[in-house]
Amino acid sequence: MTPRYRSVKGTRDLLPPESERWNEAERIAREIFRSRGYGEIRTPVLEDTALFARSVGETTDIVHKEMYTFPDRKGRSLSMRPENTAGVVRAVIENGLAAGPMPLRLYYIGPQFRYERPQAGRFREFSQIGVELLGVPGPAAEAEVLEMLFDFLRALGFRELSVTLNSVGTAATRVSFGEMLKAHVLPRSGAFGEDDRRKLTENPLRLFDSKDPGVRTALEGAPRTVDFLDEDSRRHHAEVRRLLTDAGIPFRDEPSLVRGLDYYTRTVFEVVSEDLGAQDAILGGGRYDALVESLGGPSVPAIGFAIGEDRLLQVAPLTVTRRACVVVVPQRSDDLAEAARIAREIRAALPGGCVEVDLAARGIKKGLARAGALLEEADARGFDREGLLAVLIGERERADGSVTVKRLATGEQETFPRSELAERLGAARER
Ligand code: HAM
Repeated sequence: MTPRYRSVKGTRDLLPPESERWNEAERIAREIFRSRGYGEIRTPVLEDTALFARSVGETTDIVHKEMYTFPDRKGRSLSMRPENTAGVVRAVIENGLAAGPMPLRLYYIGPQFRYERPQAGRFREFSQIGVELLGVPGPAAEAEVLEMLFDFLRALGFRELSVTLNSVGTAATRVSFGEMLKAHVLPRSGAFGEDDRRKLTENPLRLFDSKDPGVRTALEGAPRTVDFLDEDSRRHHAEVRRLLTDAGIPFRDEPSLVRGLDYYTRTVFEVVSEDLGAQDAILGGGRYDALVESLGGPSVPAIGFAIGEDRLLQVAPLTVTRRACVVVVPQRSDDLAEAARIAREIRAALPGGCVEVDLAARGIKKGLARAGALLEEADARGFDREGLLAVLIGERERADGSVTVKRLATGEQETFPRSELAERLGAARER
């Protein structure tokens, strides 16, 4: 049957067992972030459009052409967040946290929206796992955030990844760098399209985001941000590199890395996985020392990163631990209450396992056939085949207060007094 409705282009459904891998990755993220004092922040998907124009930057691709922006019924321009740093900073200021004790350690997990051309690993609705650390001006902030990031990536099973690192200096550095860049590119910009021509005049750094081969060629031999750094930024960058080496975090300098958002100052970084095919990053981040102030708060330095969860899970070696599953099969619907009681007992004896009741209750044979289907679904649903059991409540069992337990993978079965059920299942799990 052709479905009448389909998901919106660039969005998708996440189904089990893939959703279980997502949950597991998010569980690990929460555990690692919380253990280092980071608290979860949840901000709205909808924000004033002006917030993103002011922070991410009016001339960036994200704001200029990728935002879902619309007037609400009163004519206010709203946007669905294309990223979460701006919303976090807005919330921090609005809730008085920017004037409170520092450092402020926050993390978030949630959907973001960008009207991009969908392709492998690129969606219009995607999810980010992000971290923001506010109030620490020194390179110890970079070290803390990147070490935590690598603890997370390693916990997901990654071994080979390294950080691509650069410094874009201060806002003033960026202006002089932009001018030099423009001077370098202008004579080679004859064949540029309209969009890249606009970038060249309005915000030359954004040319680094262009995928156009002509722009790429024009950028060859261009000046490098690191050659424009002021003395403090240079010292900061050297110290960041020293601390990363000290913490055993593998990194590689990439002088052309500027990142596609305007709020960055000094440190910027990305992690790219070859397994993603295209040159797309699993995550990106950096320092944004001027953003809190430019959004109306006090002067508070900050740094953070966001991981693209869709891309992360596409390449993460993470597997979900297989678990046991027990199906309680009542012969008739009169036995459903007893089946529910038994299910309750088994749940208590099998923490982390899965217990289902055959609610159809149309006889042991049909119930067993249904339970048997779990064998085929075991891989997809993350079940341990050996741990798949059916607990049968038929006539005989009802008469003498016993239960029959059948191991689905082998067909072995055993009948024993109901009072021994919890203990026996616990023991079977140990096998
Ligand atoms: P970003 O580089 O724009 O940075 O996005 C971070 C990550 O989100 C990317 O590396 C990518 O994995 C993922 N991502 C972006 N767009 C898409 C898409 N269309 N489909 C799938 N995944 C995508 C930020 O968003 C900054 N807020 C990061 C940050 C936090 N900087 C400081 N704090």
